Amino acid sequence: MIDRTLNEFHYVSDGDDICDAPSNSQTEKSYWNGFYRNNLATFVPSQFAAMTLLEMWDFDNFIDCGCGNGRDSIFFASHGKNVLSIDSSGAAIEQVSMECRRRKLTTVQAHQLDFSSLTEKCLMKYENMLERCVVYARFFLHSLDEQTEQRFFDQMSSAIGTGSMICAEFRTKIDSQLPKKAPPHFRRYIDPYDLVQKINPANLRLKYMNVGFGLAKFQEEDAHVARIYLEKV
Ligand SMILES: C[S@@+](CC[C@H](N)C(=O)[O-])C[C@H]1O[C@@H](n2cnc3c(N)ncnc32)[C@H](O)[C@@H]1O
Repeated sequence: MIDRTLNEFHYVSDGDDICDAPSNSQTEKSYWNGFYRNNLATFVPSQFAAMTLLEMWDFDNFIDCGCGNGRDSIFFASHGKNVLSIDSSGAAIEQVSMECRRRKLTTVQAHQLDFSSLTEKCLMKYENMLERCVVYARFFLHSLDEQTEQRFFDQMSSAIGTGSMICAEFRTKIDSQLPKKAPPHFRRYIDPYDLVQKINPANLRLKYMNVGFGLAKFQEEDAHVARIYLEKV
């Protein structure tokens, strides 16, 4: 039984990898393409986007990694930010572009890119955005296998300028025990303390962390999530 009244700042896990379904990039792409093509996602911004915009208000450039339909990208852009929205799903990227056209938002660039093949060269194209930016990753890290997560941190942390931030929200291992409405798809539940241990301190410094319930509540689901803010040093 999980006590939902507690936000857990001290939390121990058994260290095993827990996933809802096996990772297979083709199956995953079809899942997300179907999800966005069928308009199953909301355009209401997430609670994490609201917090991050407030905390990171003095940044002009936001890189929304695994942006989905662009709900949070659009929120940042509608508050005057330049946004680079990246997702491996073509249907997601089409939705971002369509919605930005509909709202006449001109500061969002949406690109289809798979982080499993992210290279320094791909990132160089966005050099102007990366110098001082917020790399925003909501419900993205747990959608990646461990190798791609490592690539994300390695490539992003070396491409962004000093003082830039990486802001992530992701499902924890405790969340694996909770019922879900969406059909099974790949989710790699993450121990936030293990993740922070793996971060290279020569590159990134932990500025903020919170773990618990009530941070990403949506209708009858109240996911157990972690939020971390890392600063490039
Ligand atoms: C749970 S959704 C989150 C969407 C959005 N950030 C939000 O909070 O509503 C995860 C997103 O990550 C994308 N994704 C998964 N693996 C990816 C990869 N290897 N490269 C780029 N995007 C990926 C999926 O297509 C999907 O849009």
